[in-house]
Amino acid sequence: MGGANDLGSYLKWIYETAVFLYELLSETGSLYVHLDSNVSHYVKALLDSVFGRDNLRNEVVWNKGYRGTARRRRFQQEHDVILFYAKSTDHTWNSTYVDYKDMSLARYNRVDEEGNRYARIKRRRTDGTVYYGRTYPKGKLQGDIIDVPIMAATSSERTGYPTQKPEALLERIIRASSNEGDLVLDCFCGSGTTPAVAEKLNRRWIACDLGRFAIHTSRKRLLGIDNIRPFIVQNLGKYERQVWQKAEFGEDAAFITRSYRKFILDLYHAEMVEGYTWLHGRKGGRMVHVGSVDSPVAVGEVRNIAIEFQQTLGTGKDAPRVAGVDILGWDFALDTNETAQQIASEAGLKVRFLRIPREVLEKKAVDQGDIRFFELAALSVAHQCARRELSIELTDFMIPPDDVPDDVAKAVRHWSDWIDYWAVDFNYRDDTFHNQWQSYRTRKDRTLLLRANHTYSKSGEYTVLIKAIDILGNDTTKTIQVKVL
Ligand SMILES: C[S@@+](CC[C@H](N)C(=O)[O-])C[C@H]1O[C@@H](n2cnc3c(N)ncnc32)[C@H](O)[C@@H]1O
Repeated sequence: MGGANDLGSYLKWIYETAVFLYELLSETGSLYVHLDSNVSHYVKALLDSVFGRDNLRNEVVWNKGYRGTARRRRFQQEHDVILFYAKSTDHTWNSTYVDYKDMSLARYNRVDEEGNRYARIKRRRTDGTVYYGRTYPKGKLQGDIIDVPIMAATSSERTGYPTQKPEALLERIIRASSNEGDLVLDCFCGSGTTPAVAEKLNRRWIACDLGRFAIHTSRKRLLGIDNIRPFIVQNLGKYERQVWQKAEFGEDAAFITRSYRKFILDLYHAEMVEGYTWLHGRKGGRMVHVGSVDSPVAVGEVRNIAIEFQQTLGTGKDAPRVAGVDILGWDFALDTNETAQQIASEAGLKVRFLRIPREVLEKKAVDQGDIRFFELAALSVAHQCARRELSIELTDFMIPPDDVPDDVAKAVRHWSDWIDYWAVDFNYRDDTFHNQWQSYRTRKDRTLLLRANHTYSKSGEYTVLIKAIDILGNDTTKTIQVKVL
């Protein structure tokens, strides 16, 4: 955190987020906000105003133990603060216990038939006779200091995500403030610790993050949990882009369109051209089309680009001169790549499809200039269907070479090394992708299956959607039609 203004805008954002979360929270719900101890006091005042001071249940200290670098001329910093608010006095609460330290265990000095420690207690019946009962150690009630050491560098829990929290910490919180079947939200999920623990504790969950790497890490981590229930990964897509567009360029429709295109063209290092409907810019001789924020680039759009291109080729100052168009889009309708390549080549035109990366919406990334447009990759799939048995095999995957950092390219031996993860929906119905089968690499096991089999229970015609996520974090999809007899 830099100067005073940074702190001001951060607190404004926290406040707005807190108001929103308060509205979303169920009457029996609780909010836990984990903060570095040098901002927690500001945020506590804000949250007091949103939740009401009486609803602060605890200022929890996460005692994470001493970490690495020694602090000079002050005590070592060993804790973070977690502010715990409830929406009402009816909030869900389960007392949790931690193991006794050895001292308190001393009185449990007997061992039962199963090897458990217990204490022998003298009790009196109503008729005055005496007997000895057993009490087992329940543990000490969890206090507002939670002792969970940060993960060791070699811990198997580590995902490689820089701010990852230990599962043991989230487990204490989720057990205390929810029951099985309850819904847990982490709106800044990072490596996915909260959804992973919620899943293991039989809670339902929603996890959000704006980072590509966070989503990628969380998705893989969740898939690694035994018997994970089905989940979907969704993006806010056009809703987020529309909000951004309005905030960035205002309300006037014509002005928005023009300034939006100019903004994207600048990031793509292209110049703007005037007087065309479908051709918006030029870069190194090739024309550039900028797809809108509202809808995926579809085949019809490519057809219009091709027509305008043919009509204007060589006609004036800004007219196309070489037979190439770069089509930039946020999303691409399924199979655009193949069908559109065909239309374009019939028109004598070479098209390239490039994805406008989500980072464009982030001021910081734009200011730093680290915006990369990735060309759509191409996935080849073979399939065989014998009666009700379908077998799908990935046969090739190509990432355009410009997109690949040199060291990565050198390490790749086989085309399948580009694929980090792939999944199949055997009965795609033009709505949500249902992850019915998947194969993915983990840190320990780098193998990836290239074949997937499926048995249909009914005959019919099915659309099969195959989604591959490459090691750069981009999705490539492909559909095939199968006829099951
Ligand atoms: C401290 S990390 C969370 C780490 C997480 N508890 C774990 O165990 O891995 C905070 C996360 O918030 C995300 N983030 C920051 N601002 C966000 C926003 N406005 N919307 C969604 N996610 C955001 C960041 O990308 C980052 O992954």
